[in-house]
Amino acid sequence: MRFLSPADEIQRVAAADIEVEGRTIHAGEGVYLPAAAANRDPAAFPDPDTLDVDRRARHHLAFGYGIHQCLGQNLARAELEIALHELLTRLPGLALDADLADLPIKPGGSVQGVHRLPVRW
Ligand code: HEM
Repeated sequence: MRFLSPADEIQRVAAADIEVEGRTIHAGEGVYLPAAAANRDPAAFPDPDTLDVDRRARHHLAFGYGIHQCLGQNLARAELEIALHELLTRLPGLALDADLADLPIKPGGSVQGVHRLPVRW
């Protein structure tokens, strides 16, 4: 979820003037929060471009943050845990059946992912 965040940005409208890092965001202005970039922030995640499933990364922003944080995140985590476990135990030979560079990646600013993911087992 941290390494490749499906919801790669979060939008908000400022409810009041707020100062962030010396700049003022005025009430009513739209704000795009690049959650995927925050999830690769080396100050929060050392060596951020390395996929390390054992790292402590519970503070990632893939499910958002604050009062609108994803209501379905516990279901999504359970589904991922079950699906990945079943896939890897039932199909131990599961492998990518294409060159990584040829995978059709969805554009940023949408729900992230690939259009197709050919596999073999
Ligand atoms: C991997 C799967 C999922 C991802 C990456 C994801 C991500 C997100 C993100 C980034 C937000 C916005 C948070 C914010 O604005 O601060 C959100 C909101 C929400 N999500 Fe998810 N979500 C996932 C699965 C689900 C599922 C399975 C459900 C329901 C069954 C769900 C229900 C919701 C709802 C209702 C909100 C709106 C919460 C609000 O505005 O108060 N999500 N999700």
